[in-house]
Amino acid sequence: MSEKSFKVLLHEPFRLKLAESLLPRLKQMDPSAELEPVYKALVEPPNPDMGHLAFGCFIFAKVLKKSPAQVATDLKAQWQPVDGIASVEAAGPYLNFKFTSEFLAQHTVENVLNGSVFKTKLVAEPPKTMFEYSQPNTHKELHVGHMRNLCLGDSLVRLYRRTYGNDMVISTTFPGDVGTHVAKCLWYIENHVGMDVLDQKRKDPLKAEWLGQMYSAGNIKLEDEEKDPVKYEKNKAQLTEILKQLEAGSGKYFDLWKETREWSIDLMEQVYRWAGVEFDRWYWESEVDSASVKTVKKYFAEGKLIESQGAIGLDFSNENLGFCMLLKSDGTGLYATKDVELARRKFEDFKIEKSIYVVDMRQALHFKQVFRTLEVLGFEQAKNCYHLQYNFVELPDGAMSSRKGNIIPLTSLVNRMRDHVKTEYLARYSNEWPQPEIESVADVVAKGAIHYGMLRQDTNKKIVFDMNEWLKLDGESGPFIQYSYARINSLRKKFEAKGSFNGSLLTHPSEQKLMQHLMNFNTVIVNATENFKPSALCTYLYETAKKFNVFYHDCSIGNAETEELRQSRLALSAATGLILKEGLSLLGIPVPDRM
Ligand code: ARG
Repeated sequence: MSEKSFKVLLHEPFRLKLAESLLPRLKQMDPSAELEPVYKALVEPPNPDMGHLAFGCFIFAKVLKKSPAQVATDLKAQWQPVDGIASVEAAGPYLNFKFTSEFLAQHTVENVLNGSVFKTKLVAEPPKTMFEYSQPNTHKELHVGHMRNLCLGDSLVRLYRRTYGNDMVISTTFPGDVGTHVAKCLWYIENHVGMDVLDQKRKDPLKAEWLGQMYSAGNIKLEDEEKDPVKYEKNKAQLTEILKQLEAGSGKYFDLWKETREWSIDLMEQVYRWAGVEFDRWYWESEVDSASVKTVKKYFAEGKLIESQGAIGLDFSNENLGFCMLLKSDGTGLYATKDVELARRKFEDFKIEKSIYVVDMRQALHFKQVFRTLEVLGFEQAKNCYHLQYNFVELPDGAMSSRKGNIIPLTSLVNRMRDHVKTEYLARYSNEWPQPEIESVADVVAKGAIHYGMLRQDTNKKIVFDMNEWLKLDGESGPFIQYSYARINSLRKKFEAKGSFNGSLLTHPSEQKLMQHLMNFNTVIVNATENFKPSALCTYLYETAKKFNVFYHDCSIGNAETEELRQSRLALSAATGLILKEGLSLLGIPVPDRM
């Protein structure tokens, strides 16, 4: 994708240690050998029984004019013992290494418990990057589909902040507060609701949801009336009048827009607060709307755009992108016009080098045109603009549509999930736990279910929203991982963890596999960041929870042979808990203390 990328540091201390042990031996064979390629040639063997890390000998085979398998055999023959490495085996083109239990524990349990894993610097020279996500339209309903964008954008911002550093990542939103959808909503209120109902709605806490329903009703009504030529003309004239007033900034429709716009914004803020999302800057469609027309006229005057049949824009038809129209022949702007002005402001306001747009896949052509336009207009950052597309959210019985009336509004969805958690999981604690804790745990679990469900699927795949499935405690779900965390938390209390451990005692295969898995936390984060794939972190955390369960089953804490072994197992549990908590937080998911 983009040109300006970051440099991944050699951030895994255990890989570095192994690469450093290998380097002098490789240099004897090939004096030009260097550390970084050796580090990068270290991979995980497909089967953990083969070893903890493997070195692929391919990179030196060519220079040495030997087969990779021969290089592996030669290296093995010369191998001298190294602290922390328990065994070395040549297996085909690979050299397989096993670490000692002490070494594994040092790089997992110890470095997790002392927090260094969570602070390691992961990359160098990251470009200043902006994410734009969650761009709902005012006057429309917020539904479960919007959560995909919100969860994806939020998690990417969190992952990028961890990888790039907080100051290098800017989060923005761009709600659509003007346009035909607003006109349709106001049209319906004017013609089919009446001012007395509107007056009552002013006091209704659910007025924003109601507004969204008025938009849907308007949409359906207008569509139905299209067949009647008289009604069609009348409606068209009225919609034009509404849009005109909005643009002029005065008139009764403008006043109604201003008032109702706030209702939608209040609801958005409420949702963001609930989801733990904050934006550094809110850009509005209304703020770039008329400015964008001026900007485009200026570019045209400077000879940067062309005219075609009265319209102004750029012709990309020889690149299969068609004509990108920026001014219609009547002098009005379009969606792309606003995006050109928006991009210009983003570059200027924040001096960003890279700009990511989290927007659904239907807008792919639009963004291709906009990015090419920015390039022709001379913006250097155009090459580093990226449309992060994602697929739709459907219900088990098919696509959501306001016509079918099967849209699940966000607020009622969250309430339903909370209630489900309370009755299904938390009812048994009703006499034990204080009520506020029950409420808060139900809320935390609902968040876990939604975020994990929205993120576990790759962005190019459809998501089928299934509330019961997402809330399951025994399957791949957010609540399952939260539950694993809560169990670890209670273990530590039950057995009085002292935080001391002896890594050399953690020799059971289940302990080893868990530690080996924990070691890769930062690598998974960097990969998820680099590939815009929170789903990779989802999978990793699910695996972590499962490996923990196997360990907990195989290696008794209560019946550990010695107190020292018990404490070491508790320390491994605690480290697993911290990895789960930190990993979930990068997905935007909080954890409950108990569950
Ligand atoms: N509000 C728009 C919509 O609902 C999405 C805006 C996407 N962002 C952008 N810069 N065009 O379709």
